Amino acid sequence: MKTDRRQMMGALAAFALSACSTKPASETSSTNPTTPSATMKKDSFGKLPNGDPADLYTLNNSNGVSVSITTYGGRVVALKTPDKKGAVADIVLGFDSLDGYLGDNPYFGALIGRYGNRIGKAQFTLAGKVYKLFANDGPNSLHGGKQGFDKVLWTGADKSTTDTPAVELRYTSKDGEEGYPGTLAGIVTYSLTPQNELKIEYKATTDKPTVLNLTNHTYWNLSGAGEGDVLGHHMMIVASKFTPVDKTLIPTGELKSLDGSPLDFRTATAIGARIDNDDQQLKFGKGYDHNFVCDSTGGALARCALVHEPNSGRTMEVLTTQPGVQFYTGNFLDGKIKGKGGKVYAKRGAFCLETQHFPDSPNKPNFPTSELKPGEEYKYTTVYKFGAA
Ligand code: GLA
Repeated sequence: MKTDRRQMMGALAAFALSACSTKPASETSSTNPTTPSATMKKDSFGKLPNGDPADLYTLNNSNGVSVSITTYGGRVVALKTPDKKGAVADIVLGFDSLDGYLGDNPYFGALIGRYGNRIGKAQFTLAGKVYKLFANDGPNSLHGGKQGFDKVLWTGADKSTTDTPAVELRYTSKDGEEGYPGTLAGIVTYSLTPQNELKIEYKATTDKPTVLNLTNHTYWNLSGAGEGDVLGHHMMIVASKFTPVDKTLIPTGELKSLDGSPLDFRTATAIGARIDNDDQQLKFGKGYDHNFVCDSTGGALARCALVHEPNSGRTMEVLTTQPGVQFYTGNFLDGKIKGKGGKVYAKRGAFCLETQHFPDSPNKPNFPTSELKPGEEYKYTTVYKFGAA
């Protein structure tokens, strides 16, 4: 795909605009003359095969933005937000009912744990002991193994304040579950702020030393879920380095400069502009499927990505306290999954920005540690902020 320079400059200007302002309620709700107030609603989302009930929490803010989250896998089922003309669309891939999520699907909207991304050869060593995991991605373990946090039932609780609806999800993973040591108590809170931010706060404690890497695997399409591919979206990632991978997508251990690479997104670039180029890393990933090393260090909440879809004008800014972000372009989507409203999800019909510790950290001593010890608290925040320009 050829990238038009002028279009890119326009996108950059829009980025700058969206980065410093979120439209006030009066503007974003222009299609809705009565400004809605922030609300929280809990509905049934059906039953799991064992009869356990799954709930669906819907959080609305006063700008007409809403997010729906199910206790099954802590999944973001819908996120509705206005475009530059005020038309609201659901921008996350998923299903209309629980059945879709219970069937085969690539982690749509899910909370991922215990270890998001890959662990090489499905094993790691901690304090001299080897822990064997379930190999569900060739020789490697991906996204927590056979029954990761995306496939368990979390317990929800309403934690809303006056202007910020919030749902807290809790799940306690047993010692040895999926091969990981320690009883792990996880708490994830989703809140929707008046600034049009979906804030995700992750917390966990353990009773034995363990490794942990929680993330969220929402598939975004700022044109609307099922509205074609995301190759025309403009992506900016605030990273000067990435972790190159081998052909099984396990990092080599190197932190490599992005200078001159088709993976360099420090300048906003259309996702499709270089995706099919001959670069070996892009071949391995069948497109973008790589961990970027966020330039911000030290654990402060900082921007790691900014996305703009030129037709709708929708923008999404991602801020995190994590050291890395996996940029994945839905390369394994193949048009076979029928999602919400019967829409088909095309190859590269979405992108994911999974904030995280680096893949295979338990086997890479030079990467920031993913170890959690008893007495410590695992705690981090990621914010997805929506706008239109
Ligand atoms: C992650 C991985 C991808 C793929 C998807 C799920 O983002 O990095 O390779 O496995 O999850 O399909």
